[in-house]
Amino acid sequence: MLWIMKFSGFFSAAMVMIVLSPSLQSFPPAEAIRSSHVDSHLRLPVDAHSFDESSFRKAPAFRNADDCHSSRFGKPGVCDPSLVHVAITLDVEYLRGSVAAVHSILQHSKCPESVFFHFLVSDTGLEALVHSTFPELKFKVYYFDPDRVRSLISSSVRQALEQPLNYARNYLADILESCVTRVIYLDSDLVVVDDVSKLWRTGLGSKTIGAPEYCHANFTKYFTEHFWTDPSFSGVFSGRNPCYFNTGVMVIDLVKWRKFGYTLRIEKWMEIQKTSINRIYELGSLPPFLLLFAGDVAPIEHRWNQHGLGGDNVRGSCRDLHPGPVSLLHWSGSGKPWRRLDSRRPCPLDSLWAAFDLYEHST
Ligand SMILES: *[C@@H]1O[C@H](CO)[C@@H](O)[C@H](O)[C@H]1NC(C)=O
Repeated sequence: MLWIMKFSGFFSAAMVMIVLSPSLQSFPPAEAIRSSHVDSHLRLPVDAHSFDESSFRKAPAFRNADDCHSSRFGKPGVCDPSLVHVAITLDVEYLRGSVAAVHSILQHSKCPESVFFHFLVSDTGLEALVHSTFPELKFKVYYFDPDRVRSLISSSVRQALEQPLNYARNYLADILESCVTRVIYLDSDLVVVDDVSKLWRTGLGSKTIGAPEYCHANFTKYFTEHFWTDPSFSGVFSGRNPCYFNTGVMVIDLVKWRKFGYTLRIEKWMEIQKTSINRIYELGSLPPFLLLFAGDVAPIEHRWNQHGLGGDNVRGSCRDLHPGPVSLLHWSGSGKPWRRLDSRRPCPLDSLWAAFDLYEHST
């Protein structure tokens, strides 16, 4: 573990093969239900103008290797079939995390010029910032109207889970161009330390989404007793062996998603949650995904979501990696590396995130 900290600055794809002893495994997968989003009471006040184009260092230019399917001569449009598509949200609260995630992807890609980013935003003015930080990035910014989901969101155990942009992932199939047939959705509190094209090429078989599954997590607790005792609800899982998965890293077949109308099916469950007298779950955007896909996802290797690194943001609650190789580090949980670094109380693994941080503190 120690050498990870010492050499973190030099980390690259080489670290991917670290195998840690099982004794270092420290948190139950169920912890991940607190994943992806931050507790609002831990937020520092951030106003939309606290970032501008000079807030981030310009990233170096990342070039394709010679044997990449490169469309150097003639700018490839979003419909170019050789592109790898990645969708990430960009908001003021998580901006630093999103920028680090993009940086980490480019740095570890053999063909960085073949990665196309789809940014989902609800704030304005972030496009110029992306341009100045990554001058040659292929990307498109999509405005996600918070009103699209506001009426469907019911209060959850964590206020941050109610942020409308958390629900943008439900709408990727509608928001992205129809020529985009597959997308990797990534949360904003992670870094990729392997070539993202490997994740992109994951076989989904007949499934609509792929994600690492956690079958030893207690699935019962993701839904209420009311849900489990009413067969008209719990019957949704009949014929399936549902396992928890984290919606912060997903490979989505957008053609199947569109064909089977999953957006409407998610909205239907949100409507049920909102209107029934007894709620059927306590969390935010995750449960509808479990309702539709748990037990029916293409399993992806766990190296692609080493989650839970955020921990509880309580002193001493730093988390370790799960045993096994690492291709993606995910600071799910309420602690975020940029806040801990700023408060000079980082967890050991936060230095791995810091290697991709492009934020410049004004002095
Ligand atoms: C799983 O969670 C439910 C609800 O919290 C609990 O009643 C049950 O005992 C748990 N099962 C196991 C095997 O821990």
